[in-house]
Amino acid sequence: MESILDNRPLLQREIEQVAEVAGHLWQKGWAERNGGNIVINITDHIDTAIMRMHAISKPIEIGTTLAHLKGCYFYCKGTNRRMRDLARKPMENGSVIRITEDCAHYEIVADSVVKPTSELPSHLSVHDYLTAKGSPYKASLHTHPIELVAMTHHRPFLEKDVLTHLLWSMIPETKAFCPRGLGIVPYLLPSSLALAQETIDTIEEDYDVVMWEKHGVFAVDADLMSAFDQVDVLNKAAQIYMSARNMGFEPEGMADEQMQEMTQAFHLPK
Ligand code: 13P
Ligand code: ZN
Repeated sequence: MESILDNRPLLQREIEQVAEVAGHLWQKGWAERNGGNIVINITDHIDTAIMRMHAISKPIEIGTTLAHLKGCYFYCKGTNRRMRDLARKPMENGSVIRITEDCAHYEIVADSVVKPTSELPSHLSVHDYLTAKGSPYKASLHTHPIELVAMTHHRPFLEKDVLTHLLWSMIPETKAFCPRGLGIVPYLLPSSLALAQETIDTIEEDYDVVMWEKHGVFAVDADLMSAFDQVDVLNKAAQIYMSARNMGFEPEGMADEQMQEMTQAFHLPK
């Protein structure tokens, strides 16, 4: 079967990275059933032949109007598709979409009619914001990391930056590799426009990673592997915290002076 990836090595490499990360998500135990989703802005890889391609679906409403995404292209995980299947067959468990002229609809372009993830409003709203500010970020990831989600069931951890400081203090690399910390989005219905709006509002506060309370993580970065890495270091810190609690003590955490030393040595933002 013909694929949009044929004779397009850069686009192919991009989708290979999506497949690799999908495999990691499954192996981590973060991707039960169809859990989690991935959206990549691939507009930079689009040539005139793709621009001339006829849509293979009717225009479908996004649910919101995203003025900065006119004519942009995205690879999206399909709704109800499994990460473990996507890892083997990314173009059968996801599709390439194009945002239409009115910025309120998308149409599926390739390879087959796989309806994008139900969390598309959140992903596209965040890409609209990133595009508007000229960000180099192209990847957004939503996943269900066990320990991080468990921590959002504890009300005191939901206060602004409480989890950020706790997790940063568990192991020095956390702040080095997730320097903006972890924003908190209060519980909202999965796939809702309200969740999309709250996600964008929290990302705008200058976070790359936000927790969806009692649900999962939403992360953005230049590429998908980097977004995955941020979630992975945060969840490692959560596991260290829980291991200490399981051994029967509250972990001491790095001292404030040690955190400050790290911030200066690695030229970190806050
Ligand atoms: P989709 O299968 O629609 O991507 O949904 C998975 C999910 O995690 C919803 O939050
Ligand atoms: Zn989810």
